[in-house]
Amino acid sequence: MAFDFTNKTIIVTGGANGIGLEVVHGIIEGGGKVAILDINEEAAREVVEGLGEGNFFFKADMSSSKEVREAIQNAIKASGKIDGLVNCAGIVSTLPFEEVSDEEFERTIKINLNGTFYANSEIFKYFKENGGGRIVNVSSVAGKVGGGLLGTSAYATSKAGVNGLTKAVAKEGGKYGIACNAVCPSYTLTKMTNDLQTNSDKHQRVVNMIPLGRAAQPKEIAQMILFFASDAASFVTGEIGDVDGGITLDG
Ligand SMILES: NC(=O)c1ccc[n+]([C@@H]2O[C@H](COP(=O)([O-])OP(=O)(O)OC[C@H]3O[C@@H](n4cnc5c(N)ncnc54)[C@H](O)[C@@H]3O)[C@@H](O)[C@H]2O)c1
Repeated sequence: MAFDFTNKTIIVTGGANGIGLEVVHGIIEGGGKVAILDINEEAAREVVEGLGEGNFFFKADMSSSKEVREAIQNAIKASGKIDGLVNCAGIVSTLPFEEVSDEEFERTIKINLNGTFYANSEIFKYFKENGGGRIVNVSSVAGKVGGGLLGTSAYATSKAGVNGLTKAVAKEGGKYGIACNAVCPSYTLTKMTNDLQTNSDKHQRVVNMIPLGRAAQPKEIAQMILFFASDAASFVTGEIGDVDGGITLDG
């Protein structure tokens, strides 16, 4: 199902791979343009070259405020206008709590949470001056249930932070026409979950916890992100949406 992105340009962080790449394809299918921010220059360049004119790539490491803010400013300049931001870039941390070093914890928080803050903060200023816009932050069920499927404590903490940030941005952005929502996927078949996919015992244990009885294709996660990023969700903000095969079943 395609959502309408006619005349819209969306910044997609982490758009070179996995879920972010499916979001990029969905925006293009809906008639929109993208500006990809990613640390993987080779993969991102290849994606953007295949999309044609009006689509851009800017290299940025999400753990660097300077790089993220500069890349967003460059995306605004190159595209002329930006209508939305999808924050997909992220890493996983899978160590048991007792093995998580300060460095591991800080690196995970820096990329997943600080990076999301830098991008939200930079685009907020632009949206405030330009009649609003839509932000979607890609979180995880780990942020709601304390991790355990794949990502553990550092990852769960970073994603719980993303959920809190999303609600705060929605609260303060509403008066400027800024909507901010988050999406919480569970086990999805991307590079991030390669180890889980190739360990049949672990894979089966995780799948058994999912009422729909399988892992998701990245396209199925992208559908909810695209809905939140599109005008189809015009009255939705501050929502932490589960796209998890029923794992959290929250009320
Ligand atoms: N795959 C899953 O099972 C799953 C489940 C829940 C949530 N998520 C979340 O979905 C999002 C996308 O994950 P995915 O599964 O598509 O992973 P992926 O590894 O396939 O893609 C992640 C993308 O982020 C980019 N990236 C990584 N570190 C970066 C950095 N420091 N700066 C800039 N870009 C960086 C990578 O280059 C890559 O393009 C992540 O936020 C992840 O936490 C994934």
